[in-house]
Parts: sequence; C-alpha cells; structure tokens
Amino acid sequence: MSVKTSSFDKLNPEQLLKVRQIIKKHQGEDGALIPILRDIQEELGYLPRDAQVEVAQKLNIPLSEVYSVITFYALFSLKPKGKYHINVCKGTACYVRGAEGILEKLKDVLGIGPGDTTDDGLFSIDVIRCLGACGLGPVITINDETYARLKPDNIPGIIARYTDVGTKDYEERPVQEKVNV
Ligand code: FES
Repeated sequence: MSVKTSSFDKLNPEQLLKVRQIIKKHQGEDGALIPILRDIQEELGYLPRDAQVEVAQKLNIPLSEVYSVITFYALFSLKPKGKYHINVCKGTACYVRGAEGILEKLKDVLGIGPGDTTDDGLFSIDVIRCLGACGLGPVITINDETYARLKPDNIPGIIARYTDVGTKDYEERPVQEKVNV
C-alpha cells in the first residue's frame, strides 16, 4: 500500500536537527512520547510525517503508535495552519445562535473540518470556546478580522474575499458585520 505524502510532510535539514535535539532531550524519560510531540508541535507548528518517522525510530516504537497519539489529542496537528486561519466560536452564546450552521457551511465551502488545512495551504479551521464577543454571535475570526452576527449564507462571500475570485461579491453583501473586539 502506498502512502500519499505532501510537501507538509517533509522536514528541511534545520527542522530535522531541531526534531533530533528535542527527541534527545526527552529520550529515556518515562512517557517521553507526548512531551516530544508537544515540543515538536511548539517548534514547527505541527507534526509532519518526517518528524513522526524520526520519533518512532528513535523511541523504537511503531509509527502507528505515534500517529494514533497525534490524532487522539486535539492539541496536535498534522498540517500547518493555513495562511488564513479561521476560528469558529462554539461557546454557549454563539452555539445557541447557530454556530453549528456556520461551521457546517465553512466545511462545505472549504472541504475541510476543524483542525484541518486546505491542500493549497490557504485556509485552516479551528473551533474555540469564546472569542469575547458573546453579544454578537455567532462569531468567527479570520486572522485579525472578526465577523459577527453571521448566517450560513454569509460564509461563501466572506471566504471569497480571501481568494482571487469573488471579492466584489463580498463587498456587495452588507449582511455580515465586521467588528473589532
Ligand atoms: S460564546 Fe462566542 S464570543 Fe463568547
């Protein structure tokens, strides 16, 4: 069986050196796997396949064990965040005002779910608990911009604003409210 890899999976020599230093720092500790993965995630922003292979080899454990730990814990990511990182608030206030519908529409438009990044590296999605703008829900942020009082129909126009096409479509939609919080 061949495993599909992408540019996300590769480490450059400098990154490989960092990964090896991190492994060396924790090697021999009880339960070294999670601290190693945490430190690599902190260093690189995610856990590329080359790093997983390195960890498995140095700790002498199956790659499948490394992978299952990464996919079990939400704090670990298999891909770098997108150029445009979307946080969807699913705190109580946003939830009761329809945050789930906003998330579903984002998944539909971008073809990815929470914790994932589009293959072109442009967009990533995370779900968070509160953005501190509860009266304006449902709320999302895209990098430094906040979009409030959203309806699912607003999503395609907002996303189009960050791609080459559809900017005009977004500008013509007064429905969603951009705020600074
Ligand atoms: S619950 Fe969404 S901003 Fe607070």
